[in-house]
Amino acid sequence: MSPFKNLIAATAILLMLSARTSGDSTSPPPHQARIAELLARMSLQEKIGQLNMRGGGQPMDVNPGMRDQNLNELLGEIRSGAVGSLLGANGADYINKLQRCAVEESPHKIPLLVGNDVIHGFRTIFPIPLGEAATFQPELIERAATVAAREARAAGTNWTFAPMIDVCRDARWGRIAETAGEDHYLGALMAAARVRGFQGDRVDAPDRVLACGKHYVAYGAPEGGRDYNTVDVSMQTLHEVHLATFHTAVRAGVASMMTSFNEINGVPASGNEYVMRTVLRGDWAFGGFVVSDYNAIPEMILHGYAADRADAAAKALRAGVDIDMCGFAYRDELAGLVASGRVSEKLIDESVNRVLRAKASLGLFESPYSDSSLEKRTLLAAEHRALARDIARRSMVLLKNNKELLPLPKSIKRLALIGPLIDSRRDPLGTWACYGEDQNVVTVRAGLAAALPQTEILTARGCDVRGESPFGVDEAVVAANAAEAVVLVLGESEDMSGEGHSRASIELPAPQLALAKSLFDTGKPCVVVLLTGRPLAIPTLAESAGAILCAWHPGTECGHAIADVLLGDFNPAGRLPATFPRATGQIPIHYNHKNTGRPPTADRYTSKYIDVAWTPQYSFGFGLSYTTFAYSDLRVEPATVDADGSIRISVNVANTGRRDGEEVVQVYFRDPIASRTRPVRQLCAFERVAIAVGQSKCVEFSISADLFAFYNWDMKRVVEPGEIELYVGGNPADGLKTSVQVIDAIAR
Ligand code: NOJ
Repeated sequence: MSPFKNLIAATAILLMLSARTSGDSTSPPPHQARIAELLARMSLQEKIGQLNMRGGGQPMDVNPGMRDQNLNELLGEIRSGAVGSLLGANGADYINKLQRCAVEESPHKIPLLVGNDVIHGFRTIFPIPLGEAATFQPELIERAATVAAREARAAGTNWTFAPMIDVCRDARWGRIAETAGEDHYLGALMAAARVRGFQGDRVDAPDRVLACGKHYVAYGAPEGGRDYNTVDVSMQTLHEVHLATFHTAVRAGVASMMTSFNEINGVPASGNEYVMRTVLRGDWAFGGFVVSDYNAIPEMILHGYAADRADAAAKALRAGVDIDMCGFAYRDELAGLVASGRVSEKLIDESVNRVLRAKASLGLFESPYSDSSLEKRTLLAAEHRALARDIARRSMVLLKNNKELLPLPKSIKRLALIGPLIDSRRDPLGTWACYGEDQNVVTVRAGLAAALPQTEILTARGCDVRGESPFGVDEAVVAANAAEAVVLVLGESEDMSGEGHSRASIELPAPQLALAKSLFDTGKPCVVVLLTGRPLAIPTLAESAGAILCAWHPGTECGHAIADVLLGDFNPAGRLPATFPRATGQIPIHYNHKNTGRPPTADRYTSKYIDVAWTPQYSFGFGLSYTTFAYSDLRVEPATVDADGSIRISVNVANTGRRDGEEVVQVYFRDPIASRTRPVRQLCAFERVAIAVGQSKCVEFSISADLFAFYNWDMKRVVEPGEIELYVGGNPADGLKTSVQVIDAIAR
């Protein structure tokens, strides 16, 4: 059989996606005539209403009288045509009531967009997106998004504020939890997968929702890792890294985009004509609509970019923001701006047109209502939970496994289960858990108890997740001493990552570290399970734990998925989507760094630290298995390639251990000499393959030379002639090496 049969074309997926243009796929032409006719009949106030989003949720912590008053206010605004979309409304019956008001009582009977943050599940919660990325299985994450869309639409939501596709190289930033990590290639594939999963082929199907790529753009690079902080990146990095995932989402047909809170090199995203008009609508021909982030339009005043709310509204509309999310600058200022001639009504018409097209694409004019019986049947369906369990265990990354401590034998008689998170229901859901409910979460204790019915499980909390000092170390040590092995669950509570939850230090909180040290001192075999929303700096665990399993915040099926991996019912194969540093001070640290003129060596005057090694604790792409793999027979064809051609790579991967397992085969390249310096490694293809004990597989990739492109000094996207080194292996540091010659150049 030819080694190149059944090519695995990760790059081709990206290219194929370019066949679909954003917005077009979600708005078939028949809608256009009706929309034009509708627009012609609408008053300026009604048009502005379509660009106004307000909160639509029912606050539960107010008395019933107040709730009625809120609802009446909301219905009044909808009835008058002053609202086009809602944030945070939930439930088929409730949303039907609001839609009924819009389509039966508002002037032109225009249905509402109802948006929610369906980030990693709706009621059934999947691992946080950082964990989902660790699967290195975009096709599986597409299925997770499909399930999330099904649950959301059944409950009345028709628009998700996802995928979140910011690239982040700074684990201090709390929102790294929502990203696919530090690599734009992996991030782009995850972005496209989620767009397909949410929107499907036809977004008017009763189980699909509009997707929204966010946060446009470079929100993942705030100075100091502090949320909402200033972003200052080179134009090359902006294009090669931060815009890349968004471009892929556009090619995949994403219906909408959300601006970010940050400025980009001095111009706030919500007023940034370059990123919205020149790049998004111009270069990429994006046909969907753009929403601001929450209150981001008036925040341009504090940025020092707009004089007042009217100025902010004018700048945002001109730059290309169609919907004002809860900033009310459009609602309050656009009519005056039109009257004074500062904003043309034509610009407003263009935005309204895009919003109405999105509503039409959802089929809302024909079927605005959800079926509440479907809602009951759909949320938390058994098959949704089963998929959540499978994705959770596939997301887990085995960081250390000394002397094959894992998997633990099921015959174990006494197991100590220790740590502040063993009984938590809220924390495993992670940040932005949408309408996930604590009561449905399988705790770590419940998962292990179900899997080990014959084992005595001795438990101790030991300490709080945060706080001053541990309170229960003695009790924990007693439990450890009485057991054959210890499972110690450490990490972060759900409120230690996410929006507005950046950390200046990503080390383990002091009480947890003290607890861990005491347990290591017992000499008992100790497995650390990390529940976390970000990479952590864990040098002591790396040194002294017997085994470390990074389980992220794994979602509803937490305990079952962890038990599956710890007990060997599932052989872990997840890989880090973001680097674990040795210390916070190493940040930013990422695998695709530059070489510098003084790469680290033993010499004093090279690029390193005097107090900590320069290398990461665990790099992007790293992850162990309960078995081992050996690589051989790496081939590349042809040996020379045109800049617009592609190469085929094949490698033989053998399972040389004692268990069936899965390996994430990764292909990296390096352009050693170029007109602008290039990273020491860059991922350009991967595949997660299952290989049985004693078996081997020929794994094949097709890689377009276009992936070697970069932006030169003149901001031309170029593929330059010369050697490209290729590395194929199980992580960026090891691997077989080959190379290919690019024989001509392309500049665009
Ligand atoms: C602010 C967040 O930045 C954004 O991601 C989210 O979609 C909106 N709030 C709405 O909840």
